Amino acid sequence: MLEQSKSAELTNYLENSAFQKVKRMIAESAGLDCSGYRDEYLKRRFEIRLRATGSATYARYIIYLRKNPAEFTNLLNDLTINYTTFFRDLDVYEYLEHKLLPKLFLSKNPVKIWSAGCATGEEPYSLSILVNKIFGKRLANHPIRIIASDIDRDALAKAQRGAYGPRQISTVSPKMIDEYFTHEGDSWIVKDFVKSVIRFERFDLNQASLHVNFDLILCRNVMIYFSKEGQHHIHMNFYRALRDGGYMITGKSEILSGEPAEKFQALDYITRVYQKPPKPAFETFKLKN
Ligand SMILES: C[S@@+](CC[C@H](N)C(=O)[O-])C[C@H]1O[C@@H](n2cnc3c(N)ncnc32)[C@H](O)[C@@H]1O
Repeated sequence: MLEQSKSAELTNYLENSAFQKVKRMIAESAGLDCSGYRDEYLKRRFEIRLRATGSATYARYIIYLRKNPAEFTNLLNDLTINYTTFFRDLDVYEYLEHKLLPKLFLSKNPVKIWSAGCATGEEPYSLSILVNKIFGKRLANHPIRIIASDIDRDALAKAQRGAYGPRQISTVSPKMIDEYFTHEGDSWIVKDFVKSVIRFERFDLNQASLHVNFDLILCRNVMIYFSKEGQHHIHMNFYRALRDGGYMITGKSEILSGEPAEKFQALDYITRVYQKPPKPAFETFKLKN
């Protein structure tokens, strides 16, 4: 009995070491730092690949990965789930339309937005469409720039093409489809003027942001894959990347905790809108004088 439990302990230990090794191999060979993801999440995703490659253990999977480096692409695809829709969570877009965007467009500066974890592009295109719908021709005098980033190259390539099937555009109103898409064969393609304000970039959220002074950052339905520490790290990166008084929107099931919860001010719990506090007026006065 004792022998059996010792051998089970050893097997667990070896499997866990091999699991950690797979994480390191992904960082070294595919450039994705997995340290911020929750282990339970990673194990669930890795096990899909173990089954698909007929690897009974992590140790066998490591051998498979060494012999078949192309498997890293499958692994990355399985790690990053790209589900998204146009105008996902309508109440968030209503909040943007009626409360947030009009405030941002009061300033004289160009408006800078980051859609972080944009998957196949539906979120940044929805934002660009909304801004066009609200401000129309006035946009000529008031530029807007949307950076849309994701770690998944395939998703980004689809986003850049901006071509969607009938199921994907089913959440867009017929009037908007008419105005903002062209119909070609089985696809609806986002019009160039909607695309022109968006720049797509491959970016791993575990890294510090390359851009700063954002007015608004949306990072929705991405944090669910990250550990608490990973989430803190990313939310603090967003805090630094926002201008004073800038806004952040998270996914509806995502909750801020720890330092980010103390630093950000919650504006709306339902739509998960937060604000980086504006600079106190006397500091702005000191800076100007
Ligand atoms: C479920 S989609 C969310 C899409 C969109 N934000 C929405 O709410 O509909 C999650 C996206 O997060 C991306 N992602 C996961 N880990 C990432 C990381 N470390 N850096 C950047 N993007 C990541 C995935 O590739 C995926 O496209």
